[in-house]
Amino acid sequence: MTVLRIVPAGPAEAAVLSALYESAFGEAWAPEQLAQLLAGPGALALIALDEAGEPAGYALGRVAADEAELLSIALLPDKRRRGGGHLLLDALIERCTAAGAATLFLEVATDNAAALALYRGTGFCEAGIRKGYYKVGPAAVDAIVMKRALGAAG
Ligand SMILES: CC(C)(COP(=O)(O)OP(=O)(O)OC[C@H]1O[C@@H](n2cnc3c(N)ncnc32)[C@H](O)[C@@H]1OP(=O)(O)O)[C@@H](O)C(=O)NCCC(=O)NCCS
Repeated sequence: MTVLRIVPAGPAEAAVLSALYESAFGEAWAPEQLAQLLAGPGALALIALDEAGEPAGYALGRVAADEAELLSIALLPDKRRRGGGHLLLDALIERCTAAGAATLFLEVATDNAAALALYRGTGFCEAGIRKGYYKVGPAAVDAIVMKRALGAAG
């Protein structure tokens, strides 16, 4: 059972989100860039707090007209497989729906078993492939584009 608590975030939380991103992905996302994104139109950010009130994960999305996009989601390595991914994604879906989006899109690497399990289990289906979308050193990994209907249609 998860004991994470989901709270909304904005440009003021850019440094927290940047640190979470770096811990999850091992690469930087500059707080200034994140703050700019979060201040932009349609941006949505959520942070998952653990039982001690410490940030454990986040989800970032953006809504434009009736379409929404999941930009990034991650839990700290030692906070995974406790339902936090589901909790964050469900909360983001709720907010995208409330903001008027009818469809939520995302991209996921074909070799990301954890994320694929999360998305399939949350009602996403495959909508296409982007060849060589992720660069991993000299290699490239394809992305699966996934989508999910929101609101009454979801
Ligand atoms: C993807 C990620 C956010 C999932 O978060 P999580 O909190 O571990 O997910 P949950 O505990 O809510 O589990 C969601 C589902 O995925 C499954 N799952 C989680 N990790 C898994 C793994 N490593 N292998 C297979 N299935 C896995 C769970 O069993 C669960 O399935 P269920 O709904 O059938 O029970 C997390 O693994 C993560 O932060 N990964 C690194 C960042 C990343 O890759 N983000 C996505 C980029 S597109």
